[in-house]
Amino acid sequence: MAEIRLEGVTKVYPRGGAAAVDSVSLTVPDGSFTVLVGPSGCGKSTTLRMVAGLEEATDGRIVIDGRTVNDVPPRDRDIAMVFQNYALYPHMTVRQNLGFALRMRRTPRAEIERRVGEVARTLGIEDLLDRRPGQLSGGQRQRVAVGRAIVREPKAFLFDEPLSNLDARLRVSTRAELKALHQRLRTTTLYVTHDQEEAMTLGDQVVVMCRGRVQQAGPPMEIYRHPANRFVAGFVGTPPMNFIAGTLSKPGEYENAHFASDATNLVNERFVFAFSAEQSERLRPYFGEPIVLGIRPQALSLAAEQEPGRDFPDTNQFVLELLVVEPLGDTMDLVCQTASGERIVARVPAADGLIPGATVRLEAQPARLHAFEVGEFGAALL
Ligand SMILES: Nc1ncnc2c1ncn2[C@@H]1O[C@H](COP(=O)(O)OP(=O)(O)OP(=O)(O)O)[C@@H](O)[C@H]1O
Ligand SMILES: [Mg+2]
Repeated sequence: MAEIRLEGVTKVYPRGGAAAVDSVSLTVPDGSFTVLVGPSGCGKSTTLRMVAGLEEATDGRIVIDGRTVNDVPPRDRDIAMVFQNYALYPHMTVRQNLGFALRMRRTPRAEIERRVGEVARTLGIEDLLDRRPGQLSGGQRQRVAVGRAIVREPKAFLFDEPLSNLDARLRVSTRAELKALHQRLRTTTLYVTHDQEEAMTLGDQVVVMCRGRVQQAGPPMEIYRHPANRFVAGFVGTPPMNFIAGTLSKPGEYENAHFASDATNLVNERFVFAFSAEQSERLRPYFGEPIVLGIRPQALSLAAEQEPGRDFPDTNQFVLELLVVEPLGDTMDLVCQTASGERIVARVPAADGLIPGATVRLEAQPARLHAFEVGEFGAALL
């Protein structure tokens, strides 16, 4: 077991242009399951390969179990890596594949047999020991690849998208197995995926990367509830958070801060959202300024028709055109559009009778509003 620490780690590939990994600092605590997640090309694999020693860091320090390993060759770092394509030896049986690393280390025969047997039992692949990789399904091959890493009893595991070759159902069940396995072995694990749901479900720590930089690191629910910036807010959560550009009310205009969207409703009025007193306090420096409002689809619900004679539009409501209904079983996603063409998605309890083209009224829970500075990486304001 071991802590893995990265201090200002940077990777610039020759002729690669901008840094693939840009001054990344992060700690994978001893025994943690930490997931690096981010869009394609953000530097996840490069980071992992530098920890494994397969790629040299241009700058910064990599520390494993208290030892700086920048100049330590991969085989002496005592960590095991599982790749997306498994890379099993096709001419060897599962038994030989599992025992290969131990044979290379001249481990006694009886000890190899014992450990291979134990790992096969752990992963439920005892019946497959005499088959070759070509005679296995994708999920079985994946388990053999994990087994080959476990059998070495390394200080840490590194996984690079190990589930991406599996079909959706198998991916979900295998990810639960991986999590159960980690709960049993407690081996420090650094796991890479581009799938935010996989990251949330597996990690006790999630590290969101974009353009070679760490955008936010923390427990999954912390990241979901309190995204540090607009990128993280839009990346974590399904369907993605809705963002609406607009302007915050001026000081003294209202008692609490109000937000008026640039987007408009069917009668050409702006949407208005009101913040609580506490939220307004935090927003004070931005009064009168353009900001971006964030609303998760789950924070929107279908509202009752307004009473006759009340002002139109109501605060904290959207009146929109319903474009598409996506049934999901217990819930459904309503894909709606403002009169000015912005899409707003709501995830609501399943109900019949909603017809595309109809007008829908959605209400936002004020406590679940997010606000960001303008820009792709605009900082969270609440
Ligand atoms: N050997 C290389 N030479 C030059 N550039 C590279 C090399 N390997 C990766 N890159 C670049 O570095 C950046 C980060 O790549 P990396 O493979 O780490 O991304 P990733 O986050 O793992 O993406 P994916 O989700 O697609 O696997 C990309 O812009 C990529 O094009
Ligand atoms: Mg990758």
